[in-house]
Amino acid sequence: MTPTSVNPQSIEQAAALLRQGKLVAIPTETVYGLGADASNPEAVAKIFAAKGRPADHPLIVHLAYAPQIKDWAIDIPESAWKLASEFWPGPLTMVLRKKAAVPSAVTGGQDTVALRVPNNPVALWLLRVFGGGIAAPSANRFGRISPTLARHVADELGDAVDCILDGGPCSVGLESTIIDLTDSRPTILRPGRITRGQLEEILQIPVSLKSQHKIRAPGMLAAHYAPVTPAYLCESGALLSEFDRLCGQGKQVGVLAFSPELSTLPCEHLLHLPDKAEEYETALYSALRKLDSFGLDSILVEQPPALEAWAAVNDRLGKATL
Ligand code: TXA
Ligand code: MG
Repeated sequence: MTPTSVNPQSIEQAAALLRQGKLVAIPTETVYGLGADASNPEAVAKIFAAKGRPADHPLIVHLAYAPQIKDWAIDIPESAWKLASEFWPGPLTMVLRKKAAVPSAVTGGQDTVALRVPNNPVALWLLRVFGGGIAAPSANRFGRISPTLARHVADELGDAVDCILDGGPCSVGLESTIIDLTDSRPTILRPGRITRGQLEEILQIPVSLKSQHKIRAPGMLAAHYAPVTPAYLCESGALLSEFDRLCGQGKQVGVLAFSPELSTLPCEHLLHLPDKAEEYETALYSALRKLDSFGLDSILVEQPPALEAWAAVNDRLGKATL
């Protein structure tokens, strides 16, 4: 399946495929999603088959406009409207109590549903033409690195999708922040571009951060977002000695770094990313895929600082490394 360029015809065609219960890969500002009509359980089942994803892992329903959350959720707290008006369209997913009619295939059998209005012109165009909700996980095989280019989806899911809309590179590049609003104390289930500080500023109450979340957020399982090549997190100094040690053993080593000290490391497979958290975030998944494609013995990843701005990156690197 080669990616399709975006024009009024391809958007109409993608909407028609969704109505027929087919799968359409869509660009969002975070990562590419593998979309199906969220109101059609058979279409949603195809997502799980294509990804190799366990059926009890719930999906995010993407919407064109914030008021559509009333079609999917009940008991909507004031906090949801506040966050929607501040951050939507954008990289924030809200978990709310689901309406009875929401297919359990979408929610993994839970009584809650995850909702998001993405900030990508192609995704919004398709959502408006389609009219309903699009259930979409990241368009990668289960446990692997999320795609930030249409080509990544084509490489990994190939013929399992009926259309791949090419929206170019994802501007954020890392999955959305997920906040659970079903309890009086809002809880971040997955960190992302929108930080805890930003959420607390709007809500004016403390927001918890769930570090161990068992079933609800598979993005919190170990060995998620992972390259095939064994990858290890190291502080800059330790990375240098580990690099020397492995090279001394004749190993082929890739390095993912950001600090100026490591920019001149004599390593054939060095990828040096920006040292600003947001720019690093945007480049991270493509860089991991690239390093993975070299077929090396190992990848050494420089440990970013333990600061809030780096929370999402640290979360994903923690899952991607051994
Ligand atoms: O940025 C994103 O969120 C991307 C784009 C495509 O929107 N999507 C994405 O989907 O990352 P996925 O399926 O790879 O991750 C969705 C996460 C999972 O960790 C899932 O468990 C969680 O959302 N989730 C979905 N519904 C939930 C619910 N009802 N309660 C708790 N977590 C839920
Ligand atoms: Mg995913």
